[in-house]
Amino acid sequence: MKERTRLSISFELNGSPRRIEVEAHRTLLSVLRDDLGTVDVKEGCDEGVCGTCTVLLDGRAVSSCLVLAPRVHGARITTLLGLSPDGRPHPLKEMFVRHGAVQCGFCTPGMVLTAYAFVRSHPQTTRQELRKALAGNLCRCTGYAKLLDAVEAYVREVCSVR
Ligand code: FES
Ligand code: FES
Repeated sequence: MKERTRLSISFELNGSPRRIEVEAHRTLLSVLRDDLGTVDVKEGCDEGVCGTCTVLLDGRAVSSCLVLAPRVHGARITTLLGLSPDGRPHPLKEMFVRHGAVQCGFCTPGMVLTAYAFVRSHPQTTRQELRKALAGNLCRCTGYAKLLDAVEAYVREVCSVR
């Protein structure tokens, strides 16, 4: 039987250094969930369509099911838990709760991380731009209006007073 190539990779996960051996074909999503127990990253379509598996790769929102694990060697990965290193809810998460933008919660980690990354680089953004920025994150529960309300409130009430 042909042996599969294994690689040793090191990266930062939510501020902590990680080193792990992986087969070259593994995705970041499967390594995070199955090897490192990072189950706040959710698995949906597993083919780049739903946005549920979004993480931040050096601050940029990516679908972790489309990233091969060796690609993150030397990189910084942030999941939803990494937005709250002190254990207190991040203000954007609080807005999701306040505006009723969470129902089953399955899409929430990806939705929050996508919105967070976008707002960081577009602090004066509009609802229309937010709608486009979140178009790759699917939600089966909320109907999207409440999600947009939550992110818009975060932009207005938190980002503009910094
Ligand atoms: S699970 Fe990655 S985009 Fe759907
Ligand atoms: S809250 Fe259920 S999928 Fe979005």
